[in-house]
Amino acid sequence: MTSRYPDDVPRLTDGTVTLRAMTEADLPASVEQSVDPETVRWTTVPSPYDIEDAREFFGVIRAGWEDDGEKTFVIEVTGDPGPIAFAGLIDVRPSQRGSSWEVGFATHPAARGRGVMTAALRLAVAWAFEQGAPSVYWYAGVGNWASRRVAWKTGMTFHGTLPRFVKGRDGAEDAWVASLLPGQPMEPQTPWHVAPVIEGERVRLRPWRDDDGAALLPRNDPPHWLGDDDGAPSMTSADFPVWLERRRSTVAAGVAVDWCIADRETDQALGDLDVFVRGGTLDGSDVAEIGYQLTPSARGRGMASEAARLAVAHALRPAAEGGLGVRRLVAETAADNEASNAVLRRAGFVEYGREHAVDALPDGTYGDALYWELVDGS
Ligand SMILES: CC(C)(COP(=O)(O)OP(=O)(O)OC[C@H]1O[C@@H](n2cnc3c(N)ncnc32)[C@H](O)[C@@H]1OP(=O)(O)O)[C@@H](O)C(=O)NCCC(=O)NCCS
Repeated sequence: MTSRYPDDVPRLTDGTVTLRAMTEADLPASVEQSVDPETVRWTTVPSPYDIEDAREFFGVIRAGWEDDGEKTFVIEVTGDPGPIAFAGLIDVRPSQRGSSWEVGFATHPAARGRGVMTAALRLAVAWAFEQGAPSVYWYAGVGNWASRRVAWKTGMTFHGTLPRFVKGRDGAEDAWVASLLPGQPMEPQTPWHVAPVIEGERVRLRPWRDDDGAALLPRNDPPHWLGDDDGAPSMTSADFPVWLERRRSTVAAGVAVDWCIADRETDQALGDLDVFVRGGTLDGSDVAEIGYQLTPSARGRGMASEAARLAVAHALRPAAEGGLGVRRLVAETAADNEASNAVLRRAGFVEYGREHAVDALPDGTYGDALYWELVDGS
């Protein structure tokens, strides 16, 4: 599939976002994009990068269209909050394996967060399918959440993590992979509930931030209280990046809403609270489970009770009013975890069952588990 450049490069538009051929006039803005720290972090753009690098890359783009290589488009955008002539780059290419196609993209920093890449990806993928692509694959370095959200918004199916698969600055890095097939709707296929900020008297429920880990102390409670697998990362400063990555992954899969319980006064992280399902996704169920934990220094001050009450109210609120539309909430505790049982009682849960001899205790005996429920309106 070869073309004359730029005459044969198609102009693809949805009325706001347009994909078009690159010109000399785009080079200064492409340099701005290429030196931006996020672009440097998540792509293999040469660093440092100047106008001569941009000119050389322009030659590569032209060659890609003229021979059988990558098909790279400049993204142009109109509409609110104003037009941007160079809003980024997107390319589609038959993969080296000869079957699936791959997509790569970067948005100019001035154009981020307004849906540009989501729209550009829909246009580029639809065009690739018209050219006969049997599938389009997206790969991103693990942790590139903005890119993952774009893939999700475009309806891509997430397949997991490929160990040491993409080229990074320091060698091969683990990669996320997702794909789209012709005919698949280009809209999200599963929920992804970004935790809303909810203010109480003394706590604030909010999304976790990358720098929250410093406030999290080592755990001092018995392992059976949380039921963690041996070796699973815990909510401590030492494990924080890995622990947070796992939490965010369950959220991105539509399985949980996960909040950082923060001190309303200082915004310091105190603990974690999630509303989750054990099978399917949150939008496919009107029953959900609640779980929580505080870092040791935050315990004994009623913070978990207040956080649980706020989360319960959000979970039971109808989806049309911004809640989760849950009808019945459940929870599970170790029978000897008196503080956690008190949190549930205060939040309106009722004990409905006891399972005997569930948790192996350090003294060689077995502890019971309690089951709790809260049914909307009862
Ligand atoms: C990834 C990138 C292309 C996204 O471009 P964009 O034009 O801002 O994308 P969109 O506005 O269409 O969508 C971005 C979404 O990610 C979300 N997002 C941004 N940062 C996020 C983060 N750290 N965690 C979770 N979501 C995040 C945005 O809120 C938005 O979602 P929303 O519309 O539901 O609110 C841009 O950030 C970029 O150029 N990054 C550097 C280069 C890069 O990573 N390229 C991809 C390599 S695989």
